[in-house]
Amino acid sequence: MTNTNDKQLAVLITGASSGIGLALAQHYIREGFAVIACGRNEQNLAKISSATPLVFDITDIGQVSAASLHLQQLLKDNGWKLHHIILNAGSCEYIDDPLHFDSALFSRVINTNVVAMGYCLEHFLPLLSRGAQLGLMSSSATYLPFPRAEAYGASKAAIGYLGRSLRVDLAQHGIGVSVICPGFVKTPLTAKNDFAMPMQISAEQAATEIFNGMQRQRREIHFPTKFTWLLKLASLLPEKLLVYFLAPK
Ligand SMILES: NC(=O)c1ccc[n+]([C@@H]2O[C@H](COP(=O)([O-])OP(=O)(O)OC[C@H]3O[C@@H](n4cnc5c(N)ncnc54)[C@H](OP(=O)(O)O)[C@@H]3O)[C@@H](O)[C@H]2O)c1
Repeated sequence: MTNTNDKQLAVLITGASSGIGLALAQHYIREGFAVIACGRNEQNLAKISSATPLVFDITDIGQVSAASLHLQQLLKDNGWKLHHIILNAGSCEYIDDPLHFDSALFSRVINTNVVAMGYCLEHFLPLLSRGAQLGLMSSSATYLPFPRAEAYGASKAAIGYLGRSLRVDLAQHGIGVSVICPGFVKTPLTAKNDFAMPMQISAEQAATEIFNGMQRQRREIHFPTKFTWLLKLASLLPEKLLVYFLAPK
């Protein structure tokens, strides 16, 4: 895909070695974008034909900085225009025993999902220009206070606020921000879940929703909508009722 100056449009996707990020990388390639696929797992990234792999750990600011320099060179050498950035990489761990709150787990999840997103913003945002779109991976889990989700839910809620606040500040620079809130998507991350996951969709379906939402510069990209609207409606219930319905019995 090219813009009016005939430059090929590029997308940077973190967490492209697996699940939603991998499906997104493949979808953007089919749509004609130059894809910079990021992750730690070099072998998985190398399997995405036509993508340019960028291997780094998002929790290591030195590696993020080095990756951004490499990216600048790639954009220059290939004449690509960075049109979309999707900060998708993340991890999920649950608090199993709230009375013995695992602060190390809490710190790990917040560090990977939120603090590392700050590192990526610091180093990659300056490479975007007017008309570009930034996508931040949150979750529809933020609509309700789910049990055991103290760490994961808090990290994704933080991303939701981060995205809304950034949107206000980046408007003057002509850069849009999409907060992405999927329901359950079949990936290695959800394969570990030991509970029912209603209305689960495939990573390919998720990728289509995200691509379309990014192209339309949607402020919030949430799907599958039957599921997410149900959660949004339920969030209007009094907190007392929510505790009654959601509390482990
Ligand atoms: N699946 C769902 O139902 C669902 C729903 C809502 C939101 N989400 C969110 O969607 C995103 C992708 O999840 P997924 O389900 O596709 O999970 P996944 O298959 O486990 O993929 C996670 C990706 O994040 C990358 N990653 C994790 N830690 C990293 C680190 N320190 N440095 C660099 N990359 C790192 C992994 O890459 P490497 O292993 O190569 O480092 C991997 O590519 C996550 O943010 C998740 O919270 C998922």
